[in-house]
Amino acid sequence: MQSLVPLFMTQVNLALIGGGTVGGGVYQALQRNGALMASRLGIGLRIAGVAVRDLRKSRAVSIPPALLTKDWKTLVQRPDVSLVVELMGGTSIARDVVLTALRQGKAVVTANKALLSAHGEELFAAARESGANLYYEASVAGGIPIIKVLREGLIGNRITRLYGIVNGTCNYILSRMKQEGADFEVVLADAQRLGYAEADPTLDVEGHDAAHKIGILASLAHGFWVNPRHIHVEGIRSITRLDMQFASQLGYTIKLLGIVKTHSGPASGKRARKCEVQVSVYPTLVPDSHVLASVNNVFNAVFVRGDVVGDTLYYGRGAGQDATASAVLSDLADAALDIKFGSNVRIPPFVPHEGDGVVQRIDDTVSRYYLRLAVTDKPGTLARIADIFGEAKIGISSVIQPEGHEGESVPLIFMIHDAPNSAMRKALDRIGRLSVVKAAPVMIRVESFD
Ligand code: NAP
Ligand code: HSE
Repeated sequence: MQSLVPLFMTQVNLALIGGGTVGGGVYQALQRNGALMASRLGIGLRIAGVAVRDLRKSRAVSIPPALLTKDWKTLVQRPDVSLVVELMGGTSIARDVVLTALRQGKAVVTANKALLSAHGEELFAAARESGANLYYEASVAGGIPIIKVLREGLIGNRITRLYGIVNGTCNYILSRMKQEGADFEVVLADAQRLGYAEADPTLDVEGHDAAHKIGILASLAHGFWVNPRHIHVEGIRSITRLDMQFASQLGYTIKLLGIVKTHSGPASGKRARKCEVQVSVYPTLVPDSHVLASVNNVFNAVFVRGDVVGDTLYYGRGAGQDATASAVLSDLADAALDIKFGSNVRIPPFVPHEGDGVVQRIDDTVSRYYLRLAVTDKPGTLARIADIFGEAKIGISSVIQPEGHEGESVPLIFMIHDAPNSAMRKALDRIGRLSVVKAAPVMIRVESFD
């Protein structure tokens, strides 16, 4: 790429590994705002090369053929390259790319939350050993600078609550299903066409992409590496328009929420013994009066409560070419400054703090619930279900049964008071086996944000 910076200015050469949605976006954004960044930073950013899989592919953002290569390894190892930007996705070759660069002492920027979730501990350890930095702003919540917020802006806070709408594809699907009554598969195809979805969109709709992100945020907030296997994950495939309509009637909107909640926080000023943290992703009934209920389409939002600052909210586009490119540019600026001034560790990318943390088992969490059953409309049905809840010491706060015809299958909606997940699971198991219950119960947790 032609350098747009004065000759006397420091120049950092970077290798883009990936020239797809995000890589193309970064190339385009640097063309547009590279000179602006250079004037702000006093450092020029120059793209030395772009590694792709297929040199002949036609690209929405055209990249000069002279920059393209299929050989990422040679590009990463070039002596003039000091910054490697991994935007290829996946967890196998991408891991090699990042480790190869870090072991050569080169700074790495990545947008790859799946990679960090699977291999974060190893990659951050490699960064520590080599003294090179690993930057990952674009890995969570697209254009929202939430990593910087947690690492720097809120460094003086203990984070007691974090709720995130962190998957743009799911929020786009749920919003359009609610607003237009659109069909799940049609909206998913639109999200793919718009560059929001992962190469494997099941990562989005089954909640794993949100789990990768919420694990990263929980690790940053609580200083222990959250094993992705300990995150309870439910996706949005089972959400129907019927549930959206009943939720709406009850004053709620269904969102896929990532939730990080502390339950036995450390006493102020003392070192913690054990900090138990709920880290989960599931569709949630959000009260319409809560700000997260009105976050729609591809937008993400992260609500963070700190013990000093109180409640804060961060909002922006959560996926797509330009929003993600903006986050990558922010990392490029940090990396370039760190390279220029030799400041490898200002605030480490991830560092354990404040004692041991553990992820709370989902069975031990307590919440309210929305429950939809398909039942035969006949005398005694409601009483049998209410008995099971009563025996499990689970309180019902309201019931809706639209008028139907006796003997036919009708929806029966319960709102359930706070109850442990384990008790609810066991009660649902019994209810699901009743002969009057005609389909698997649909249970969605309700969040109070207290
Ligand atoms: P993408 O459009 O599929 O782009 C992937 C790029 O990597 C393509 O240019 C591809 O080459 C190249 N590539 C793949 N394997 C390669 C290999 N072995 N050697 C060289 N190049 C290779 O994916 P994307 O949407 O840009 O996502 C990239 C990363 O950003 C992922 O980790 C994703 O999770 C993350 N992310 C995406 C978004 C978003 O909104 N899309 C937002 C935040 C983070 P070809 O072009 O030749 O196929
Ligand atoms: N597939 C992701 C999403 C991309 O929809 O949020 C942004 O990380």
